Amino acid sequence: MLRRALLRPSALRRLSSPSPSHSSFPLSLASVRQCSSSSSSQIPHSHSVEQLEDTPPPPLSATISIDRSNLYNPTEHSHEPSAESELVKHLKNVIKFRGGPITVAEYMEEVLTNPKSGYYMNRDVFGKGGDFITSPEVSQMFGEMIGVWAVCVWEQMGQPDRINLVELGPGRGTLMADLLRGASKFKNFTASLALHLVECSPALQKLQYQNLKCTTEETADGDSGTRHTSTLAGNPVSWHAMLEQVPTGFPTIVIAHEFYDALPVHQFQKASRGWCEKMVDVTENASFRFVLSPQPTPAALYLGQRCKWAKAEEFAKLSQIEVCPKAIDLTQEIANRIAVDGGGALIIDYGLNEIIADSLQAIRKHKFVDILDDPGSADLSAYVDFEAVRRSAEEIPNVSVHGPITQSEFLGSLGINFRAEALLQNCNEEQAESLRTGYWRLVGEGEATFWEGPDEQTPIGMGTRYLAMAIVNKKQGVPAPYQE
Ligand SMILES: C[S@@+](CC[C@H](N)C(=O)[O-])C[C@H]1O[C@@H](n2cnc3c(N)ncnc32)[C@H](O)[C@@H]1O
Repeated sequence: MLRRALLRPSALRRLSSPSPSHSSFPLSLASVRQCSSSSSSQIPHSHSVEQLEDTPPPPLSATISIDRSNLYNPTEHSHEPSAESELVKHLKNVIKFRGGPITVAEYMEEVLTNPKSGYYMNRDVFGKGGDFITSPEVSQMFGEMIGVWAVCVWEQMGQPDRINLVELGPGRGTLMADLLRGASKFKNFTASLALHLVECSPALQKLQYQNLKCTTEETADGDSGTRHTSTLAGNPVSWHAMLEQVPTGFPTIVIAHEFYDALPVHQFQKASRGWCEKMVDVTENASFRFVLSPQPTPAALYLGQRCKWAKAEEFAKLSQIEVCPKAIDLTQEIANRIAVDGGGALIIDYGLNEIIADSLQAIRKHKFVDILDDPGSADLSAYVDFEAVRRSAEEIPNVSVHGPITQSEFLGSLGINFRAEALLQNCNEEQAESLRTGYWRLVGEGEATFWEGPDEQTPIGMGTRYLAMAIVNKKQGVPAPYQE
């Protein structure tokens, strides 16, 4: 329901209509991307969360266990994959050996990042031929504007001569490549950068290596024995599975675009016996189904924490709640780093600045599909709870949190319209059309106040459903474009 309320049927029609492709751009526009695919949050999912039947409260007990005999089994909601993939077998084994269902968060984490067969691990999932498209793939201007933001943070830090530029979940590496190319006029900035890419997928790491035009050199006494350098601006590049592996001791700029939405969420549902966690189980006929935990689960601690941050009236209205403990932990890790080493973080994602009820969605080939259908073959993502992100960061001393503001406001205030105008100077008509389409995809949705174009040419975009939040070291002042 949440996502449906954000969309108009006309938006869906416009999104699915193809737009021209432009493969023969001059250098300056070489990466203005095709815009015919849906972005990862743009179409409502067809999955509707089942209302699970309430059961009487079990006797209180100190141990956390799952009593499946007590659970309702709605067969019409079963989801049997056509052929059993490795991941499906693995999930069933986990449930079998655990002796009970797993949380939605465990399911999501396995589906996305299981080292052998997780959704992200072995392939390129982006673009027209993939499952969804993201802003950096829509237009080069997106990465360029993030570059403008990063240069401003670097200037506010006093232009240090060595900084870590960290990207969490860089996908194809497009954002980073556009950022580096766009910022290349700021020679002292690009010269200061050590690039750190936090990426769990070996397949995507390879793509990032290619797109950043990296070269590899053997080193005589380096830790790993090899050094990767991006020939885009000559910067050293390192890959890590987790942020904590990125070296500390240098000012750090962290970019997280569509990373938080991939972090696993726990889902809770109100029942007569109180809040129960939604779990994933296997039926007797071997298909997946949702069940409710009969007793409190460990993640209830995070539910309690999230509820403290919500207004009582807001909380009372809800019958479902999503919480993302990994988003809270990650935010605090980022904020601690910035508090000690200086720097800033930019989090851009689709989400809301309030508690999220039920937003987990699955997307395959640009369409919403059922969350339990053939796990590992579709992307799973959830709306980012920006209020929880803000509150988590605010618990760390010496950092300040700014926003969220809409992507439209963020890109507009940083000057995307001027960039578009400049690029248009060197376009033929076909390229100009693609550039405008890309622009509108980034800032559109009826609130794009930065473009003087005819209304009927305004595509529905990511401008208001995507939000941008910044966390910076307090000493640096207010970052662009959050100054009043
Ligand atoms: C939705 S994609 C976004 C990609 C890119 N930022 C963009 O906007 O095009 C999520 C990215 O995060 C990576 N990822 C997801 N979960 C991760 C995790 N737990 N640790 C490291 N990388 C992860 C994925 O492999 C992918 O590169």
